[in-house]
Amino acid sequence: MANKIILTGDRPTGRLHIGHYVGSLRRRVELQNSGEFDKIFIMIADAQALTDNFDNPDKVRANIIEVALDYISAGIDPEKSTILVQSQIPELTELTFFYSNLVTVSRLQRNPTVKNEIQLRNFETSIPVGFFTYPISQAADITAFKATTVPVGVDQLPMIEQTKEIVQRFNFIYSPDKPVLVDCEALIPENESCKRLPGVDGNAKMSKSLGNCIYLSDTADDVKEKIMKKMFTDPQHLQVSDPGHLEGNVVFTYLDAFCRDEHFERYLPDYANLEEMKAHYTRGGLGDVKCKKFLNEIMQETLEPIRVRRHELEKDIPAIYDILKKGSEKARETATQTLAEVKAAMRINYFDDAELIRAQSEKYSGSKD
Ligand code: TRP
Repeated sequence: MANKIILTGDRPTGRLHIGHYVGSLRRRVELQNSGEFDKIFIMIADAQALTDNFDNPDKVRANIIEVALDYISAGIDPEKSTILVQSQIPELTELTFFYSNLVTVSRLQRNPTVKNEIQLRNFETSIPVGFFTYPISQAADITAFKATTVPVGVDQLPMIEQTKEIVQRFNFIYSPDKPVLVDCEALIPENESCKRLPGVDGNAKMSKSLGNCIYLSDTADDVKEKIMKKMFTDPQHLQVSDPGHLEGNVVFTYLDAFCRDEHFERYLPDYANLEEMKAHYTRGGLGDVKCKKFLNEIMQETLEPIRVRRHELEKDIPAIYDILKKGSEKARETATQTLAEVKAAMRINYFDDAELIRAQSEKYSGSKD
């Protein structure tokens, strides 16, 4: 059986929030614990973060530890998963350079996620080359580890698409008989609400700059305040008896993402499941405060163990850096191996190839002085 290998990661530009959690992190932990994978690599993508934060290196530097703490407290186990820091694997940049021959400018311009990010950052008139080409570097991240499975949020699908094209082109041109690069599949959340968890204010995107995030590391009071005071519900639902609307109602979107039937038994036995609760809400007679209190119970139950583990981990920060260092070293071995195969396939492994040296000396064996 072929190896099953996971690679995925995040840009270290801030602490991780519950959008990251339901979008991918929770799934990674489940996959890790399923025992179905031969190897798991989780990457802190600092080099990629620098492509649009090149003028703010200290932000990236400070967030390496934040993301590492968030990962481990959310259940990524360094014994089972290798956590690595992208910039510490120089082989990735070599791969990126070679793959860049296989990608056209117009193909990069069509990448919808990059397009969107260019707009958001007002890069239109002066796109940094590094930023423009980060999908190629992401293909290097994925293929260096021969990943078969990439658990990511939906915004990353265009990157996986580009990676697949690069893999196909590389193998077609350089290794048609015995493919060097491995094809990968994205794994995205099945639940619609998890695909794109909105901010607490109802904005489609949960983002630090909008100030509408619930962070994995928020205190219990912060979480409660964000839910009870800031969370957008249904503006037309003025009286408890009024029929409520679920569309665009953040409380129900979050319930979709987090709530399980057992939560009703524990915290809201009036209903057996979310369907019954939703039916009552839309019919009228169920108030927003009651819904928010229920959501708060669930969020506290979900986030409490993460927060507790984080506090423990925060007591020994050098140990976390050590995990990252060892993980990066281990990951580098794999990337080095892949790069050697890539270079051999690309016919640039001159000094390891006794046959090349022999053939070239034969060619010149007639020339005497
Ligand atoms: N682009 C991802 C993000 O913005 C981070 C990332 C970098 C990544 N390299 C990756 C994700 C490889 C999956 C696979 O969060």
